[in-house]
Amino acid sequence: MDNKVKRETMKEYEKQFLGQIILKYNLRNAFEFGTSVGNTTEYLSNMCAKIYTIDIKPDSGIECKNKNITRLIGDSATYDFSGLYGKFDMVIIDGSHKPKYVKRDSRNALKMLRGNGFIFWHDFDLVHPGLVRVVRRFCRSHGFGLKSELGTKLVFIRRKGK
Ligand SMILES: C[S@@+](CC[C@H](N)C(=O)[O-])C[C@H]1O[C@@H](n2cnc3c(N)ncnc32)[C@H](O)[C@@H]1O
Repeated sequence: MDNKVKRETMKEYEKQFLGQIILKYNLRNAFEFGTSVGNTTEYLSNMCAKIYTIDIKPDSGIECKNKNITRLIGDSATYDFSGLYGKFDMVIIDGSHKPKYVKRDSRNALKMLRGNGFIFWHDFDLVHPGLVRVVRRFCRSHGFGLKSELGTKLVFIRRKGK
């Protein structure tokens, strides 16, 4: 990855938290909304068997060196994810933080999960009240208990298996 390009990305300890969950639950396939420069993508590609990532920007500075990364370019609000339903053990939502996008990404994430999969949302904080509201409402409407990891901006749910 190009380290000279600086964009908002997950902190090292947040990626490590994701890594711990991946190891603990043996998660193999991941999907990420919001590639940016690919820092989290690269980290996850070293932890998982396969990672898909989507970004609206075609030139985000990412260099996908790992062969297990599939990069999608498009607007997550209109992208057709139907071919990816039921394929992922974890989905990370870190694309547009506007409420209507978070809502759409969350709905798609749920369809893309398999078994006892996890959904993570990043930037769940006071700076993003709209995101917080949408995530809380989404979890309430599906009966998911929202969990957080102290000291990070990550919150997550684990779906009870199908
Ligand atoms: C906070 S950054 C992602 C950071 C990345 N997950 C990381 O940890 O390194 C948000 C990204 O979402 C992308 N994005 C914004 N709106 C989007 C949309 N509608 N569809 C897909 N990607 C979008 C932006 O281009 C940006 O690269």
